[in-house]
Formats: sequence, C-alpha cells, structure tokens
Amino acid sequence: MTQDDTKTMTETKDPILSIRNLTMMFGRKRQQATQMRMDNKSKEEILQKTGVTIAVDNISFEVERGKIHTLIGLSGSGKSTVVRCLNLLLTPTKGKILFEGKDIQTLSSRQLREYRRKNVSMVFQSFGLLSHRNVLDNVAYGLEVRGVPKSARVDKAMEMIEMVNLKGWESKSINDLSGGMRQRVGIARALANDPDILLMDEPFSALDPLVRQDMQFELLSIQDKLNKTVVFITHDINEAFKLGNTVSIMRDGRIVQTDTPEDMVINPADEYVSNFINSADKAQVYQVKNFMQIPSSLVRLQEGANVALAMMRSNNVSSAYVVDNRMNFVGVLSLDAAFQVRAGELTFKDALFKDLPTTTQDTLISDLIPIASQSRFPIAVLNDEGKFAGIISKAAILTSLK
Ligand SMILES: Nc1ncnc2c1ncn2[C@@H]1O[C@H](COP(=O)(O)OP(=O)(O)O)[C@@H](O)[C@H]1O
Ligand SMILES: [Mg+2]
Repeated sequence: MTQDDTKTMTETKDPILSIRNLTMMFGRKRQQATQMRMDNKSKEEILQKTGVTIAVDNISFEVERGKIHTLIGLSGSGKSTVVRCLNLLLTPTKGKILFEGKDIQTLSSRQLREYRRKNVSMVFQSFGLLSHRNVLDNVAYGLEVRGVPKSARVDKAMEMIEMVNLKGWESKSINDLSGGMRQRVGIARALANDPDILLMDEPFSALDPLVRQDMQFELLSIQDKLNKTVVFITHDINEAFKLGNTVSIMRDGRIVQTDTPEDMVINPADEYVSNFINSADKAQVYQVKNFMQIPSSLVRLQEGANVALAMMRSNNVSSAYVVDNRMNFVGVLSLDAAFQVRAGELTFKDALFKDLPTTTQDTLISDLIPIASQSRFPIAVLNDEGKFAGIISKAAILTSLK
C-alpha cells in the first residue's frame, strides 16, 4: 500500500458515493474521441476533428456519508455534468458510480426509479417549482407522486416547511415569494422525500449576497440536524469553503485537487489551486483551533494572585488565565490587578476580569473578528465540553488573515 492509499483510507471512512474514472463525452463520434484521447490528443483537437466535447475527463472522488462535498470550478469545467451523472440523468461514457458500493448503472429501471426517489434528490438553481401550486403543495409534490396518503404528506411537508423556516407561508402562492424563499421551498421539497443525498447545482447563485448568506447558514443547520449527505456545486470559492467538509476543484473536466478546505489552503496541489484560493477570504476557512495557543500563565483559582504574579513575571506577560479545579474558565487576572491584590487593595476573586467573551475551537476566524477587536485580552477558547482549552490573541487572528 502506498502512502497515498493510506491517506485516502483514513480520510474517507464511509463513502456513500464513489465516483471511479468517470468520463462524459457529448457528441456522436465518442469512440473516435476516446481513441484520440488515448493517443494523448488535446481536447480542443478532439473537438475540432470529431465534434465531441469531453465535459468530464476521467475523474474519481468519494463522497462521505453525512458530509457536504462541494465541487467548484469555473463555468464550463464540467460540474453540472458530474452531478447529472450521479442520478443518471446523463449516462456516463465511461467509469462507474457506486452508491453504497453498488454500481448504479447495473440497476434495473425499477431500481433506478427507487434510487432517484429514495436515495438522491436534486435541487436546481432555477428552483423548478410549480407556480400554480401553493407552498405546501409544492413541498408535498414528490410525496404525492409517490402516492403517499394526503394526511401523511401534509404532515411531512409541514415538518420540512418548518425546517426551512417558512412556517406561516404554507398556503401562499409561489408567485408571492422572494427568490430566497423560493429556494427554501425547493430545499424543503427535496428534503420531504427524505433522500440520503441532496444534489445541489448552484442553488444559491441567483440570490443576492445577504439572502445567500442566510441560505448557506440554513443549509448548514439543516445538515447538522438531519445529517444528510450533500453534493453541492458552486463557482464561488468562499461558498465552497464555507459549506464543504471536502472540496473538489475542477478544471477543464478534471479534478485538480480534493481536500478539506484547510488542507487545500495549507497545501494547494498546483498554481491553479493557489490562484483560486488566493481569491478566497481566508478568515472563512480558518478556525480558532488553527491559531489558538496555550497561555503561558494558567492559574487555578485556589493558587491565588501571588502564584499568578510569579508566572506573569517569569513568562513576561501581563495577564494570567484563571480556571477552577475542573478546568472551567473563571476569568483573567491582569498584572495591575495582581499588584493590587498583593497590596491588599483587592481580593483575588474581585480582581479577576469575569464575564469575558469566550469562543469555541471550530469558530471561524471571520466570526471572531468583531469580538476580538472589542476585547482587551486574548479570548479564551472552550472545548466541546465547555472546558478551557486555550486562548487566541488578536495578533494570531491578524496573522491568519495574511
Ligand atoms: N448536452 C450537452 N451537449 C453538448 N455539450 C454539453 C452539454 N452539456 C454540457 N456540455 C459541455 O460540457 C462542458 C461542461 O459543461 P457543464 O457540466 O455544464 O459545466 P459547468 O456546470 O461547470 O458550468 C461545457 O463545455 C459544455 O458546453
Ligand atoms: Mg453548471
């Protein structure tokens, strides 16, 4: 086993989809095009000679269950073609798509209908809503087609309408809704089928920036609640990084790199990827844990101000972080306050700065900037159990933005 094999195995624990050597050509002379490709002819030459477009060119990647996988690339790089192959709206010219290990091209037509009904649901940019139906009936549409009884489909649709924060709008006409609301309806309709995988082809691209941010947040919280697998297509690197647990960058029908946003930023595969990343807002990628530190002066409440003072002096810092016996963060003791305690002007407890803002390890740096700019001390970072885990300084935050 090579090192690369080990890496893939540890990173992808439970692939729900495996895309293997997928190729998609448009045009009649695909055989001739395939031969020319094997002879290493360029795509341009192949298009000229045969009229065949190689939209997707021998790509492989895995989609992990319960995660968001984003596909990003410029217009025409093959993203939509890939996603249309995943539910066999397009039949691949070559390669395999495995759903839970099973080759979807070997499904019978009945099984394929089941697969499209139960396992994958598509959300389009253009919403694809029925304008003569109200919100509820749009959301319930898929269930109706499946013959789900009325009361059951209304219940399910209402649950999903609530999930996307459209409660109260269920009997409104689609024509009365804003773009963002329509997209919520589109998502609710896809969710109502309770699919394992949501395929989303640039669903938010037509929305204005603020609505778009709302929808991104909405998608993340839905995903958190329902644990769906999402394949999300975008041409916006910030959106790709914000939403994706894993990101694949496409260029000319190929995947240049598949990685976590962080690893991609730290280790871009080539200059194309670096250029893409340079246009991204890094604060949207980095999390607190990437830049947190252990404070050099960490004191237990029972140890008192003199211990804190000694530590600050030997470490040459002007504040000490104070925790209780269970590592709960209590507050910060400044050097000045420590002197006041020693002079008997204040008790140790009264000298502490309490009620300071705290943050968590997976907070995005971008979300921390407003808090950090107001904060007198480096911000305490708490772990998942709410215990003190470290600090993040303003300087570290600024460094992360370079
Ligand atoms: N039905 C089709 N017939 C011919 N060419 C197509 C068809 N669909 C897509 N293409 C071509 O395949 C390439 C990839 O397109 P697409 O997958 O839509 O890219 P993206 O979604 O990244 O913008 C483009 O060159 C496009 O013109
Ligand atoms: Mg597209």
